[in-house]
Amino acid sequence: MEEISPGLENVYIKYTELTYIDGQKGIMRYRGYDINDLAEKSSFEKVSYLMLYGKFPDDSELKDFKKRINDHLVLDSYLKDILKSLPERSDSLGILQTLLSARASEESNYKYTKENDREKIPEILGSILSMVANIYRAKSGNNIIDPEPGENYAETFLKACFGSVDKDKVKAMDSALILYMDHEIPASTTAALVTASTLSDMYSSLASAIAALRGPLHGGAAEGAYRQFLEIGTPDKVDKWFSENILNGKRRLVGFGHRVYRTYDPRLKTFKKYADILSTTEEQKNILEIAKKLEENGVKAFGSKGIYTNTDFYSGMVFNAIGFPVDMFTTLFGLSRISGILAHITEYVETQERLIRPRAIYRGPGERKYPE
Ligand code: CMC
Repeated sequence: MEEISPGLENVYIKYTELTYIDGQKGIMRYRGYDINDLAEKSSFEKVSYLMLYGKFPDDSELKDFKKRINDHLVLDSYLKDILKSLPERSDSLGILQTLLSARASEESNYKYTKENDREKIPEILGSILSMVANIYRAKSGNNIIDPEPGENYAETFLKACFGSVDKDKVKAMDSALILYMDHEIPASTTAALVTASTLSDMYSSLASAIAALRGPLHGGAAEGAYRQFLEIGTPDKVDKWFSENILNGKRRLVGFGHRVYRTYDPRLKTFKKYADILSTTEEQKNILEIAKKLEENGVKAFGSKGIYTNTDFYSGMVFNAIGFPVDMFTTLFGLSRISGILAHITEYVETQERLIRPRAIYRGPGERKYPE
C-alpha cells in the first residue's frame, strides 16, 4: 500500500557532496570542512567558490571570480524603477522576490546548458548584492546607488548599505554569509531544485527559493525570534512570558527546534560569539540577556525532547548589531543562501537531472455525474 511521508521527512531526492549534517551530534561541514572553522578563517568568496567548483580557488582564480562578481554590481535601470515604484509597505523579502522574478522575465530564450548556467553564477552573485543593498537603502529612505566594487563581498555589501563600516562588523557579516550559505536541502533549496529540475532559468529557481524562505517556519524565524525578545521587553519578564506563552502550549518558541537537529545547531557557536562581541548598546545588551534567559528556559523545557536552540535564535541579534532593522533579517538570510542554492542546482542538473514530480494519493469521491 502506498504511504505518504508528511513534510517529506526522511525522503532523499539527491546525492550531494556539498553539506554534511549530523543532526544527532550537531555537526555541519561544507565539503568536509567544519562550518565554524570556515566562518572564522575564510571568506564568502572562497567558500562560495569551494561550494560551486569543489575546491578553494588559487590566487588567480579568486581574483577572476571577484572581478566577475564586481562586473555585475550595476542593476539595470528597469530594476531600479521597480524598486522605487513599490509601495512603502512592501517588505524587503517580497521586494527581492519581485526583483528576481522581474529579472527572470528576461530569460525567456534561456536554454539550459552546463556552460550557460555556470556563466550566470558570478553575474547573479553581483546583482543580488546590489539588489539587497538597494532594498535596504530604499526601505530606509536613501537613494539607489551602484555599489563600488571592492576586495571583499561582505565589505562591498555593507559599504553599499551604510557608506562606511568597521572591521568587526565586516567580519561578522562575512561569517554570517558563510554560516547561512547552505544547509543541505531545506524548503527554499528544495523549491529551487523543483523549479530547476524543469530546466527553468536560474533567476526563476531563485525566485521560487525566496518565496519558500519567507515563512515563519523557515527563513522568517530570525525575525520571529527577535520580535519575541522585543515583546518580552526586559530579562525579569522572561520566566513569566515563557510559562504563559510557551509552556502552556499556546505558541511555539521561535528559534528552537529543527527537522534535522536533535541537539544545538552547530552554527550557533559563531553567531553567539558575534552577538556577544557586537552587542554594545544598552538596548542590545538587554536583548542579549533576554535571549540567554529564554534559551535557558527553552532548553530546560524541551531539551529532553531533542528540541534545542537553532541558529535563528541569535542571528537576528548579529544582523541588528551590524545595523540592520528586523525587516531585513530574512532578506539577509536570502542573500547568504544564494551561492549554496546555485551550488545545489548545478550539482543536481549536471549530475542527477530528472524532473522532480512526486505523487499524491487520491482520497476524494469516486466517479460522479456532473449535476444537471
Ligand atoms: N517550540 C515548542 N515546541 C516545539 C518546537 C518549538 N519551537 N518545535 C517543535 N516542537 C514540538 C512540537 O510541538 C511537536 O510536539 P508534539 O510531538 O508533542 O506535538 C514536536 O516538537 C515535533 O514538532 P514538528 O512540528 O512535527 O517538527 P518539525 O520537524 O516539523 O518542525 C520546525 C521543525 C523548525 C518547523 C519546528 O521546530 C518549529 O516550528 N520551530 C519554531 C520555528 C523556527 O525556529 N524555525 C526555524 C527553523 S531553523 C532554520 C531553517 O532551517 O530555516
